[in-house]
Amino acid sequence: MRNLRSGDPRNGRSLVLIIGLAVPLLICGRGNSQTASAAADPDQRADALIAQMTLDQKFQLVHGNLTLDNLVGPGGAGLWMLGIPSLGIPDLVMADGSTGVGDGVGQATALPSSIASAATWDLAEAYKYGQVIGKELRAYGMNLNLGGNLNLTGREPRDGRTFETKGEDPLLAGEITAAHLRAIQDQYVIAGVKHYALNDQETARTQSNAVIDERSARESDLLAFEIALAESNAQMAMCAYNLVNGTYACQDDHLLNGVLKGDWKFPGFVLSDALATQSSVASALAGLDQEQPGDYMFGGIWTAESLEAGLQNGDMPASRLDNMVHRILRAMFAAGVIDHPTTVGPIDAEGDAAIAQEIEEQGAVLLKNAAGLLPLSPSSGGSIAVIGSHADVGVLSGGGSSRVIPSGGAALTLPPECPSYTPGLGGLACTGASETYDPSSPLAAIEAKASGATVTFADGTDSVAAAKLAAASNVAIVFVSQWESEGMDLPSLNFSGTQDALVGAVAAANPNTIVVMENGGAQAMPWLDNVSAVLEAWYPGQRGAQAIANILFGDVNPSGKLPLTFPMSVADLPRPVIPIPSPPTSTAVFDVDYRIEGFNVGYKWYDAKGIQPLFPFGFGLSYTTFAISNLHVTSGSPASSGFQVSFDVTNTGSRAGAEVAQVYLGLPPVTRDAPRRLVGYTKVLLQPGAAQHVTVSVDANSSAHPLSYWDTATGGWKTANGDYVVYVGNSSRNVSAAGGFRVTHTPERDPLRLPVR
Ligand code: BGC
Repeated sequence: MRNLRSGDPRNGRSLVLIIGLAVPLLICGRGNSQTASAAADPDQRADALIAQMTLDQKFQLVHGNLTLDNLVGPGGAGLWMLGIPSLGIPDLVMADGSTGVGDGVGQATALPSSIASAATWDLAEAYKYGQVIGKELRAYGMNLNLGGNLNLTGREPRDGRTFETKGEDPLLAGEITAAHLRAIQDQYVIAGVKHYALNDQETARTQSNAVIDERSARESDLLAFEIALAESNAQMAMCAYNLVNGTYACQDDHLLNGVLKGDWKFPGFVLSDALATQSSVASALAGLDQEQPGDYMFGGIWTAESLEAGLQNGDMPASRLDNMVHRILRAMFAAGVIDHPTTVGPIDAEGDAAIAQEIEEQGAVLLKNAAGLLPLSPSSGGSIAVIGSHADVGVLSGGGSSRVIPSGGAALTLPPECPSYTPGLGGLACTGASETYDPSSPLAAIEAKASGATVTFADGTDSVAAAKLAAASNVAIVFVSQWESEGMDLPSLNFSGTQDALVGAVAAANPNTIVVMENGGAQAMPWLDNVSAVLEAWYPGQRGAQAIANILFGDVNPSGKLPLTFPMSVADLPRPVIPIPSPPTSTAVFDVDYRIEGFNVGYKWYDAKGIQPLFPFGFGLSYTTFAISNLHVTSGSPASSGFQVSFDVTNTGSRAGAEVAQVYLGLPPVTRDAPRRLVGYTKVLLQPGAAQHVTVSVDANSSAHPLSYWDTATGGWKTANGDYVVYVGNSSRNVSAAGGFRVTHTPERDPLRLPVR
């Protein structure tokens, strides 16, 4: 092994990598300015290099370089592609980076989970989030980010990777991700999207076959990818473990060659997820360009040798190998990794932690605040009980490849509370894993704010003792947490262990009970009616406690909005029971039928079915109140150019605060089942009593295809004739009709028309 020194915090990487690989056995910077200058004709520059390359050198670039006796690559990375110094091609050094520098590479800023970034509904904040990831990857010598997780959460809210995602709506998820990607590439680090496509459950992810019709895929999961790629210059797309309509995603000609490279004109390269390749030449012909290093380590299916055999026997044209190499090199030029070599150095721990805190303050969602219990006063009546979830030392983070070793080291690591799955269905994700608490103590942060109160902590393991403490206190703040990780799904939407009972006991003892949730996605809350306040803090990152305390005591007015629906119960989901192989120990492929909800993912499912959610998509409270009034819709020829909706947002309360005004469009019934879809949003910060006149423009020709449906017969987007209704509000369920327009003549739209990159 090289680069492995005792005492080097990066040593943890090799262990993490092995664990990570075992599992699968089973804009705000819209311009991408730096990248643009570095990218001067990346295609020509790639071709000039290819003209000088030998066959062996070409093979070297289409797979990673990881062997059992060589586990640690440049900069401590566990995954890398060897470069060709004689041609000026640097190593391509890879690390995960959904929530900060992942893969155990070294200490880095543990950002709030990506779902918190989405909950800001703020592209400028999302850009800052990506900037921290890009800067820190680069400081570690990494020049390829293994991608932003863009799988939609609405199909399976129990998905163990929900914390890494951006929620259930293609527009919000696509735009937030695009902002991350632009920021990362502006740091000369190749950015990517994953897991393409429909990797929407983790249970038996290498065997699950997503069954879906073309229109539904195009209007949901694929649309999120289409938007993220069109609105960024991201150069990598990682194909997923699962199958789609019977074909493994990494050898799916339709998904890779047809949709991604054909329809969307994606110029970058397709990288396989670790151990996701199922074939060599067949995958290459279907559009896979590079095999992730881990596969090579295990004598992978795709080795240079087997591709060479394909070349020799004529199965694989030489032009295809050249195209694979071209895409990888053009990505390196386009993102600036060749013109701007990495310089290893320290991260800006203090500056980046401040951004982590800001994002949590903007992304935490206030779900309930009965009788205005929040914000708390410093004295809070004299006494505060802080209970549960190791709130004395830290805040929970998510597990798997995206886990970040926080600056300063973890506050606490515990054996994971793994769901008791049949081996192969996710249990392995827990082997060797640990639940990690980031070093940010809610107790200390609350103590620092509560100048006039005594603050007492109970760990919550004894609910009777916790209830007694709560009864003797003026206010009780209960922290509850739910660990999620790649490679497994959650058995239910309830908090694990006895936490729900703990909240119930505390709430029964003290009416002023506040619940703070550290989790990755939707939760059931059997105790909701009995508590006064609930703050959704997500996994809040390594400055999470300070952000939570700032919100609880009113230094920050919450403005986050849910990027996903919280259902009442799993019975309301499209699939109340997570699909598994039959029998459960089988390694055979099994179907996950996404035709049930089709394109109605997330709130569209609940709207179409008339099911009341616990908390709707887009919901979130503030310490002030807002009114949205004076709504007007203007449209010239909507089908070809879109429309504008204008309105006033007024802060009708007594505190400064921000409201996210959301624009939904109701399409003619002939084109969909759900009453409306999100087509625009804007976050407005207002002083008490202030009003702002806002105009949201919805461009019919944007990559979101806001007025259109996918017409399977013609294989393109179409805008139907009929009446369209524009709604404005502050959640998917709290909207007013602003007006509408009629489309009477729809010119055929070019299905391949995309915004200029
Ligand atoms: C995950 C990917 C990750 C890769 C490399 C896989 O298990 O699914 O998201 O990028 O490992 O760490």
